[in-house]
Amino acid sequence: MANQDFLNEINKRRTFAIISHPDAGKTTITEKVLLFGKALQKAGTVKGRGSNQHAKSDWMEMEKERGISVTTSVMQFPYNGALVNLLDTPGHEDFSEDTYRTLTAVDSCLMVIDAAKGVEDRTRKLMEVTRLRDTPIVTFMNKLDRDIRDPMELLDEVETELNMACSPISWPIGCGKGFKGVFHIHRNEAILYQSGKGHTIQDGQTIKGLDNPELDSAVGEELAEQLREELELVIGASHEFDRELFLSGELTPVFFGTALGNFGVDHMLDGLTEWAPAPMPRETSERDVIATEDNFSGFVFKIQANMDPKHRDRIAFMRIVSGKYSQGMKMNHVRTGKTMSISDAVTFMAGDRERAADAYAGDIIGLHNHGKIQIGDTFTQGESLKFSGIPNFAPELFRRIRLKDPLKQKQLLKGLVQLSEEGAVQVFRPLMNNDLIVGAVGVLQFDVVVARLKAEYKVEAIYEAINVATARWVDSTDVKKFEEFKRKAESNLALDGGDNLTYIAPTMVNLNLAKERYPDVAFRQTREH
Ligand code: G4P
Repeated sequence: MANQDFLNEINKRRTFAIISHPDAGKTTITEKVLLFGKALQKAGTVKGRGSNQHAKSDWMEMEKERGISVTTSVMQFPYNGALVNLLDTPGHEDFSEDTYRTLTAVDSCLMVIDAAKGVEDRTRKLMEVTRLRDTPIVTFMNKLDRDIRDPMELLDEVETELNMACSPISWPIGCGKGFKGVFHIHRNEAILYQSGKGHTIQDGQTIKGLDNPELDSAVGEELAEQLREELELVIGASHEFDRELFLSGELTPVFFGTALGNFGVDHMLDGLTEWAPAPMPRETSERDVIATEDNFSGFVFKIQANMDPKHRDRIAFMRIVSGKYSQGMKMNHVRTGKTMSISDAVTFMAGDRERAADAYAGDIIGLHNHGKIQIGDTFTQGESLKFSGIPNFAPELFRRIRLKDPLKQKQLLKGLVQLSEEGAVQVFRPLMNNDLIVGAVGVLQFDVVVARLKAEYKVEAIYEAINVATARWVDSTDVKKFEEFKRKAESNLALDGGDNLTYIAPTMVNLNLAKERYPDVAFRQTREH
């Protein structure tokens, strides 16, 4: 029987990530959240901001950013009796697989929307991923210090485009230059905004009750009247907060504020720590694993090069699913069947990497990895389990990669296989020739690969165009038919970095024909690790 302290430790954890479109304010809100978590003395000190501001080919910048994002990729801090783990999602303009996999390691998400713009592209894409696991979503409408769109219309857009009911928890009083604050519907009080205080935690003046005449004198009669009218409408037309619907991903509580002005962020954090789920169960091929089980288990969702020049190894990020990690404990690496004694895992308290003494279900720890650990690997205390749902996405862009110095072929292959292990790109080796094909989901990844090959593997490589439109992982339950397919389609087959068979199609038409011709073969767009 688990003891109460152990249960408390787990139940107070809240592990979430931010999803947003570039420029909506993710970096800014992260800063303010850390300010509230006492993890930063003063906002404005989170490095690595403006991730899309560097020139695409500027490797040093990328390197710097990546280095920084190792230390800020998980931030743990206490808030309101909860222990919050905020997982950063890479901020490249590109669609990134890392982002997607990070979303498999959280229990809830904060969706930040630029209220002047509404629901944007990237948010839409990321929401599709959170849908796969019905992740609960908290919404923050940002940039109220600017002129925004009609708040009612914003809620409508979330409801229709993202197919999720909205429950406003706060409501804006004016916006832009006339932004006066919000009315907190649940607390039945207005909280007044003061501009120019974004670097600090403010004790906002509050006014109890919507009909309080103090409200009229504080924000002006006109705005107060408008607020009353709007709220009557909003409360009638929108959804009441329902925690069950929130937990099943069908309803999102909505907060309004300005991250830059550090206003409303605390209301959102209060809601998130109160309502977001404690560490959730995770599926394995055998059974569901519950967070409060005595035995430790976890899975690796990301591998990143360690930018500390003294340690040229890589860090495997593991989400602890159940139990507790303590220093020196033995873990079973399920895929290899080997027992590993882990004495030097890192935790990410307040953005600084430090040695983990203890960590619990819901936490992320970093394992030093010398190439033995892969994305998707499960670790347990002995039980043979395999966590499911950590996807690899079929790339959409392909190039042939070639060496300037042909003698370094082995180094090139090693580099590519390691980079594909990290999930940065995918590498394909056709069965019929010696080409090396790099597949990526976003175009920036190609530059990163060449730059990293040079910096880390000392090989200079260049790309050539290649006639590949798409790739699909193939398998079949019908051994005989699969053998026939492999014989007949050999010129289209390749092995990926993990030696999985893939079908490389020069055109989509070709892929569709192959699907028709081989109905017993599954052509998969995602592959689970
Ligand atoms: P991102 O990580 O989602 O890409 O967004 P980031 O926080 O970097 O914010 C993008 C821009 O929007 C930044 O301006 C930031 O200062 C601004 N911003 C964020 N929140 C607010 C807000 O509540 N109100 C207003 N008015 N602006 C906000 P920038 O000019 O690109 O960068 P910087 O020069 O301020 O660093």
